[in-house]
Amino acid sequence: MTTREIVENITAFSVDDRTSKLFEGLWPIQADGVTYNSYLIQDEKNVLVDLSSEFKSDVLMDAVAARVELPRIDYVIVNHMEPDHSGALKALTRLAPNVQIICTPDATPMLDSYYSIRSHIREVADGEKISIGKRTLSFHHTPLVHWPETMVTFDEASGTLFSCDIFGGYGALPDRLYDSDLDNLDEYLKQALRYYSNILAKFSPQVSRMIEKLTRLAPRTIAPSHGLIWKKNPQLIVDLYRKWSDYVKGDNEPRATLIYASMYGNTANAMKAVVRGLTSVDVPVDVFNVAETHLSYILPSLWTNRGVVIGSPTYEGNIFPGIRHVLMDAGAKRIFNKKAAFFGSWSWSSGALREIKSMVEPYQWDVTDALEFEGAAKDSVLEQAEKLGAAFGRKLKIGR
Ligand code: FEO
Repeated sequence: MTTREIVENITAFSVDDRTSKLFEGLWPIQADGVTYNSYLIQDEKNVLVDLSSEFKSDVLMDAVAARVELPRIDYVIVNHMEPDHSGALKALTRLAPNVQIICTPDATPMLDSYYSIRSHIREVADGEKISIGKRTLSFHHTPLVHWPETMVTFDEASGTLFSCDIFGGYGALPDRLYDSDLDNLDEYLKQALRYYSNILAKFSPQVSRMIEKLTRLAPRTIAPSHGLIWKKNPQLIVDLYRKWSDYVKGDNEPRATLIYASMYGNTANAMKAVVRGLTSVDVPVDVFNVAETHLSYILPSLWTNRGVVIGSPTYEGNIFPGIRHVLMDAGAKRIFNKKAAFFGSWSWSSGALREIKSMVEPYQWDVTDALEFEGAAKDSVLEQAEKLGAAFGRKLKIGR
């Protein structure tokens, strides 16, 4: 837990979670952690903005209580009711029985279904303002960024945007709260992109619209509910989110993502030749063995890159199951409009290519190159695989 006053009378409580193995029960976070950032605004009214997950509620409540007596909290702003931010509501309403919950109308039934707290709720309209003393807070609905009920809060006096999920990232670094606390942001930004591709990518059209809406507020500090607070250079995370959300339009990087699986090493041998071909024409490639890499780490590459190379042996007349799993999830995340290539070995029946083509057709993936071979990756096969990599790489350099 890191507690710091980020601007006068606004305190951040950044609750580290390095205990949970999975975020949303799905995405690995044990190696890098995640934070649930909550904020206390002290004016004539005491206002909490977003909370933590339930299992960290004691840590958060103790930290807040060191700054203000909990029964004196007037409002808790629930920008987003997903339980990673609202789980501590039960504890808060017990300790601050008169607290009012400020949220969008769409959040009310959702909050009530989780916590049975309808009587505490005060709904706010898009653009509505509330005076809390010297400060005025405004509320801006951001539907589907990340859930339908989500909004953000803006403090006009300090120019602080409490952005909840948008502009957030994975990663929990002890005593690192601001963008200026890190000499090098590269590793953090990798985690931010992984978070984006895992959590928000599917909603990229909405993210793009909301970026334009929120930048009109001209925030001087961006205070998300996950990851670093952007004080030194908030424009950096805005520009990155704009770029990441624009990938949905198909303006991707001239790089390739190669996903493969191999049962007896033959498709793996061909993979090395395909990589040689791609690199021979100076196309960078990210290689993932789907049996060893969680989808969470593959999605940033798939989201970012123009080309996908799929290496799959035929398994029982069809695609290899691990590859099918990745492709199904790519479709569910709306990773559309790619150039694609295929290679893979078969033993007693081919079939992987046929299934892949029918899977990716609805995603508008254009399978331009394919090499399905029988048995071992002999020299003649490796030669073809290398040529396939080079030919596909040249197409990626040309563009869509
Ligand atoms: Fe961080 Fe969508 O909750």
